[in-house]
Amino acid sequence: MAKAIVIYDTNYGYTETMAKAIVVGMEGAGVDVELKKVLAAKEEDLEGVDAVVLGSPTYHHDMISSMKMFLFKMKKVDLKGKVGAAFGTYGFSGEAVEMMSDTMKHIFEMDMIEPDLKMKGMEVVTREKECKEFGKKIAGRIK
Ligand SMILES: Cc1cc2nc3c(=O)[nH]c(=O)nc-3n(C[C@H](O)[C@H](O)[C@H](O)COP(=O)(O)O)c2cc1C
Repeated sequence: MAKAIVIYDTNYGYTETMAKAIVVGMEGAGVDVELKKVLAAKEEDLEGVDAVVLGSPTYHHDMISSMKMFLFKMKKVDLKGKVGAAFGTYGFSGEAVEMMSDTMKHIFEMDMIEPDLKMKGMEVVTREKECKEFGKKIAGRIK
């Protein structure tokens, strides 16, 4: 069975809603998925998975600081060629998602699912279906 990990952080729960719906989409497509908040994630969690999916809200035109720190931990693991995906919520500018996926693509040389998935926080409840579809798309790449 293909394995994946979804690692995210959130302050108010919007990005978490996306994360949970992405997991539902992946599990529905037959992937064994672990969901972790970024402060609980360790670099060892990235070994033995077929896809790494990162989620962050945008704060102050940046990704959430906990995710920024985790990207340095990720650098210690060889992720070259592994499937990656990035998602997140935002209010008006939404830079975090592209920042994460740029690092995954250009620094870790991951095989990214494109386009990334981002949505306004207030829209997550009505757009959960898109999150599930995104999960299904990731699953399709690793199965
Ligand atoms: C202090 C603060 C700063 C924010 N800065 C930005 C920003 O620079 N760009 C943006 O698009 N949204 C910004 N937002 C909106 C959040 O990205 C949005 O509410 C997001 O959905 C929160 O996700 P979360 O509940 O997963 O933490 C900001 C929100 C707060 C409270």
